[in-house]
Amino acid sequence: MKRIGILTSGGDAPGMNACIRAAVRAALANNLTVVGIRRGYTGLIATDTVPLDRAAIRNIIHQGGTILETSRSPDLYTREGRLRVAEAIGKMGLDGVILIGGDGTFHGASLVAADTDTAPLVGVPGSIDNDVYGTDYCIGFDTAANCAVEAIDRIRDTARSHERLFFLEVMGRTAGFLALESGIAGGAEELIIPEEETSIAPMSERIRKGFDIGKKSAIVVVAEAKTPGVSFQIAGEVKKHLDLDSRVVILGHLQRGGPPTLRDRVLGSSLGVAAVEALLEGRSECMVGEVGGALAYTPLEETWKKKKPLNENLRRIFSILSD
Ligand code: F6P
Repeated sequence: MKRIGILTSGGDAPGMNACIRAAVRAALANNLTVVGIRRGYTGLIATDTVPLDRAAIRNIIHQGGTILETSRSPDLYTREGRLRVAEAIGKMGLDGVILIGGDGTFHGASLVAADTDTAPLVGVPGSIDNDVYGTDYCIGFDTAANCAVEAIDRIRDTARSHERLFFLEVMGRTAGFLALESGIAGGAEELIIPEEETSIAPMSERIRKGFDIGKKSAIVVVAEAKTPGVSFQIAGEVKKHLDLDSRVVILGHLQRGGPPTLRDRVLGSSLGVAAVEALLEGRSECMVGEVGGALAYTPLEETWKKKKPLNENLRRIFSILSD
């Protein structure tokens, strides 16, 4: 192992830069040369690279986004695209590649590994959605969840001043992790997540009862699920059951930006080092994550094929506290 590549792919997540920095430092400490691959798989196919030396990773630990830039590339879903990826890795003379991203990134990587004779690939989970199987937390989730909590706190001030009902829509695609944890931390009254059915009439009744017993505001945290903007429709349906002044806030990409929290910097740093060590130990086609505080290696194929379950205890806690 002499020369490795690092790329970020899929949605950017705060803490990716901390991870790049850690991987580069760990690699340099082991006398490896590091090549930064720009713009995810799109840049990989185009062999669009930057050298990653000590100077390149200076002063980035606190920056959101990714210095390597990123993309969502459909190329991996054709055999021709996968061959081009393997060919580019060969052309760049890489003995291993670290891929920081989410389930889509690992789906692509496992297809490449299955279809070609590529150099070892090691994944690091980076996604605000936190929906990657094989790790308790993905890089970026904590920062995004804290952003949602701050939004809930701010909305609470105006909601209680006007005795209003708010629907706050958070990201997460088909997973409710962001909604659940920010809902608990923000003291939300209701949660609408893709993992479960929500009946509008009983939910509206619970909100009404809350106001009857003296509440001055109610916040429903809505996971965007497959239809970003769905909160407007939900608010419309609730209106049929509940005569309350309501507003909708869609947090959107605000959640993806900003400086990473301590947790995301530490997770990014720890997994960045672990990814380099995994390559040096001869591991391949796996993702390095953290489960119960310990490093865990999961075959890339499992990371996207298996559904990561919501933490049932946290779900139970939300129900108790929002009652
Ligand atoms: O996967 C991360 C994520 O932020 C999802 O929560 C969201 O649905 C999606 O990316 C948005 O993607 P884009 O930035 O391409 O609009």
